Amino acid sequence: MKITVVGTGYVGLVTGTCLSEIGHTVTCIDIDQDKVNKMRSGQSPIYEPGLDELMKKNIQEKRLFFTTNHKEGFSGVEVIYIAVGTPEKEDGSANLSFVEQVGKDIAANVERDVIVVTKSTVPVGTNDWIKKVIERNLVHNVKVDIVSNPEFLREGAAIYDSFNGDRIVVGADNEDAANRIEEINKPFGIPVFKTDIRSAEMIKYAANAFLATKISFINEISNICEKVGANVEAVANGMGQDNRIGSQFLNAGIGYGGSCFPKDTKALVQIAGNVEYDFELLKGVIHVNRKQQEILLNKLNERFESLEGKKVAVLGLAFKPNTDDMREAASIVITKHLIEKGANVAAYDPVAMENAKKVIDSKVHYVSNTTEALKDADVALILTEWNEFKDLEIGTFEENMKQSVIFDGRNCYDPKIVENYHVEYHSMGRPSVKNSKLVNVG
Ligand code: UDX
Repeated sequence: MKITVVGTGYVGLVTGTCLSEIGHTVTCIDIDQDKVNKMRSGQSPIYEPGLDELMKKNIQEKRLFFTTNHKEGFSGVEVIYIAVGTPEKEDGSANLSFVEQVGKDIAANVERDVIVVTKSTVPVGTNDWIKKVIERNLVHNVKVDIVSNPEFLREGAAIYDSFNGDRIVVGADNEDAANRIEEINKPFGIPVFKTDIRSAEMIKYAANAFLATKISFINEISNICEKVGANVEAVANGMGQDNRIGSQFLNAGIGYGGSCFPKDTKALVQIAGNVEYDFELLKGVIHVNRKQQEILLNKLNERFESLEGKKVAVLGLAFKPNTDDMREAASIVITKHLIEKGANVAAYDPVAMENAKKVIDSKVHYVSNTTEALKDADVALILTEWNEFKDLEIGTFEENMKQSVIFDGRNCYDPKIVENYHVEYHSMGRPSVKNSKLVNVG
């Protein structure tokens, strides 16, 4: 099948590459010429494990192409995927101007009947609107069907998820169009759930909002655990063994970030508001998520009378491991606070430092490895649970830091193991380890 994907951001590039891997001929369109040149040589503009290799392979086998030219990209194509961004507007709603532009570009260029598939996360009703935008602007007399096909890919595991997802959601008002999209996806071997367009649009928001709810829920439980002397890890484990609850997304920490959860939760509150429904639960989820970063900072401020002149080692900047994505990363707010308090911040992240430099306070000092960050530090903060940090010998903190005080925002270490070292260890929702041999110079 000849397919065109518009937008080579995270979703578009992964979708296009994976569709080419299962045998389709895919052209990806982007407006950025430099980016297109880079991608033509098999270089992904984003950090995603396995993506470069897959791109190179399919470019070589002549199934994956990149262009800035809409005419070329839409020529003779049977199916067009829209995968452009829907950034958050100031009021929390989704900005659909890129999607609208793609609709107009499609209308101006298609010369045969097409199915337009929306991958971008768009508010309920948007697909009907896109169809109208295209039909209103059509240059040739062709039939356009529209299908909502939301993505559920996790950054850092997007290739794996493309081939091992739990379901593919196909929302269409036309059975033929739905069947053709099902057919395209067949080689992935993933069950296809067919429904109407508006339900498909809603599934994406509801799924992300529910996962965000799980995280905020366990974070609140974690805060209570700290006060009543329970251990949130044990609680999550015991809860998760109930199949109705499930064990995933119950890791307490400093909250969710990234390109989806913060944006989609706010958009869903907005979507509900538009139909005069007050989504109180989701508002609480968003509020709790913001509070979670403050909780770590409050603990730090309680522990140290002042952070003025103190060296703070920050381990991890990306919003989660295995990505260089800094969008809505907890590290942004946390480092800003540390700088305001007069701390000397030495930060290290295995891959996100270049992106971090664009969004984080310029007074943060970047170092090239963990040991350098920890060297003579007064306190270490773990903000992203990279394996590199999880695998650290606890002795490394002891050997390098001036005083080994650790605030672990991602529960990377087992307190039972930490107890064997001369460190003071505070994590989220678990009893702190305070080794009495530590000199308290805070
Ligand atoms: C998410 C969804 O998983 C995906 O289906 C959707 O399409 C896009 O958004 P992603 O943003 O890549 O994917 O990250 P995910 O792995 O889901 O984690 C999101 C955030 O939640 C991260 O900041 C992570 O650290 C946090 N998280 C996740 C927790 O704090 N606790 C958990 O138990 C799980």
